[in-house]
Amino acid sequence: MKINILAIESSCDETSASVISDGKVLNNIIATQSVHEKYGGVVPELASRAHQQHLIPVVTEAMNSSGLSKKDLSAVAFTKGPGLMGSLMVGVSFAKSFAYALGIPLIEVNHMQAHILAHFIEEPKPQFPFICLTVSGGHTQLVLVKDFLDMEIIGETTDDAVGEAFDKTAKLLGLPYPGGPLIDKYAKEGNPHAFAFPVSDMPGLDFSFSGIKTAVLYFLRDKIKEHPDFIQDNLPDICASVQYTLVKMLLQKLKKAAKFHRIKEIAIAGGVSANSGLREALQLESEKSGWELYVPKFEYCTDNAAMIAMAAHYKFLKGEFSGLDVVPEARMRF
Ligand code: KG4
Ligand code: ZN
Repeated sequence: MKINILAIESSCDETSASVISDGKVLNNIIATQSVHEKYGGVVPELASRAHQQHLIPVVTEAMNSSGLSKKDLSAVAFTKGPGLMGSLMVGVSFAKSFAYALGIPLIEVNHMQAHILAHFIEEPKPQFPFICLTVSGGHTQLVLVKDFLDMEIIGETTDDAVGEAFDKTAKLLGLPYPGGPLIDKYAKEGNPHAFAFPVSDMPGLDFSFSGIKTAVLYFLRDKIKEHPDFIQDNLPDICASVQYTLVKMLLQKLKKAAKFHRIKEIAIAGGVSANSGLREALQLESEKSGWELYVPKFEYCTDNAAMIAMAAHYKFLKGEFSGLDVVPEARMRF
């Protein structure tokens, strides 16, 4: 019999369900929550309610398009953490009830591990060991990946995530949430060397992104004093300069990690890996340093249940199941 798993993702502001059959992802249904746009960030209460509203329709669509029926399922998987507690609760409670009703095993998945395992959904797949730079709205991590479920965090942010730095800068510029993709868009027409912002210097492989947000805040405040339309008149240059600085900080640590661990298999994951400045810089560095670079399809970079399904498949193979008393963990580590 095939290993068929239904997986649920509800850690932040995407409600998603996916069905995987013997390691092959059959679908990846995602309901994005637009309710947060006008607040300039994810509002946890609203996110939980939106998950509650969208989860069953999303699961129904995933089940229908898989061609499988509930009795064909071998297990149900869910994101245990890290994420917003209320959002996680919706997914966990649903998955538990589903497993209980069908009498099938329950599989908990670490969202950050799943972002990395998204690389195994499609070819080309990285070879172990590889280094993955996971960059999202909630995390910035350098992970040494030794095997499917054997990973070590070798560096991470000590404050804001890089996606947060993009989004907070965008907010200062009056751009809607999430601002990362808009900074990317305007940066394409700007000069990355127009303005200089400080590059943080953290020890080892750790990152810090809170300084740049403050630097941009003071920079804009001073410029606007002299020139009230400064933002409108310089938007592409500001975006290009901020993006250049953030990408430089990421590359600096990634290069250091690759050198230290003598690894040339390099992967990126998370929503910020969609950034064209980052992709370009990674491409250039790969040619220079002889890296084999892995960038998943955008659909699998941002939050999605296919990556949860992929992780669940490997956990199923190892017999790693959860009890029905499992609870979400907002600050889950691995
Ligand atoms: O992985 P993700 O979808 O959700 C989290 O787990 O956080 O990442 C979302 C983050 C947001 O901060 C968003 O602004 C950023 O990814 N992002 C980008 C781009 N596309 C998405 N940041 C910069 N450039 C982009 N093209
Ligand atoms: Zn994520």
